[in-house]
Amino acid sequence: MKIFSGNSNKPLAEKIASFLSLPLIRASFKTFPDKEIFVEIFDDLKGEDIFLIQSTSFPVNDNFMELVITLNTIKQCSPRSITAVIPYYGYARQDRHTTPQSSIASELTARLLQVTGVNRIITVDLHTPQIKKYFTLPVDNLSMTTLFCEDILASYPLENLLIVSPDAGGHERAQVLAHHLNVKAITLHKARDEITGTCNMQFKTSVIDQNCIIIDDIVDTGETLCKAAEFLMQKGAKSVNAYCTHRILSGTSLEKIALSPLQEVVFTDSIFSSISRKGCTKLRQLSIAPLLAKTIRSYA
Ligand code: R5P
Repeated sequence: MKIFSGNSNKPLAEKIASFLSLPLIRASFKTFPDKEIFVEIFDDLKGEDIFLIQSTSFPVNDNFMELVITLNTIKQCSPRSITAVIPYYGYARQDRHTTPQSSIASELTARLLQVTGVNRIITVDLHTPQIKKYFTLPVDNLSMTTLFCEDILASYPLENLLIVSPDAGGHERAQVLAHHLNVKAITLHKARDEITGTCNMQFKTSVIDQNCIIIDDIVDTGETLCKAAEFLMQKGAKSVNAYCTHRILSGTSLEKIALSPLQEVVFTDSIFSSISRKGCTKLRQLSIAPLLAKTIRSYA
């Protein structure tokens, strides 16, 4: 078994390799002046099981091209098997036509990945689990429920605890987490203005005096999370915290979180973030390295 790190999330790959007591494969990545990507591998991969760690996060297109070029380069080295470990799977939000002539990039990225010769995908909290249907190879979609559940139990009292999905897409995720914690879950109705991107929330049942925990897969602009937190506080909630798997955190999301009524937002390290917290002291990180290392070991 050998571990290979792409460039999108080296700290996570190093942690995984350290849990498995394995060195990272030696390779060089170069970009031509026009940004074309060139990969060269220095280790012998013949007959080995190779696990390439690469999130397709910002800059999504560069990281995706690096992923497929590296997978294809690995294939040419005659390994026994290749697994792409994609902790954050970009383009998962384009899972269906939103208008009759719009793109479904999830389907295309699945096909592009498969022509590289990869044998299996391991990923985390896919935005829509149904996109697995675009692959003809096994896709192991790891859920954050257990990790979040353990952390909630260690960090918050269960009394008056309410799990909240900020939109219909996250309904099942919230229900499963609430079931594990033996507490209630609600799903807000979110309407997003297509032009401005701003969100409006609605929900009729009372949240008065509830300690709300919002659960979501992605925080991108922070609009969904912060509007949901404001809405819950306006409706009488006692406190609002959040657990979100993938921190895209683009634009002014950090400022929005800092100004919001959210007390704490817990993310994972599925996406590497070098962004300074700009005065936002509300963020905490849980590492998915132990879970990914355990999963990788189970396939070796
Ligand atoms: C939506 O379906 C997702 O689960 C997230 O709620 C959404 O992608 C978050 O985006 P933003 O932070 O831009 O509101």
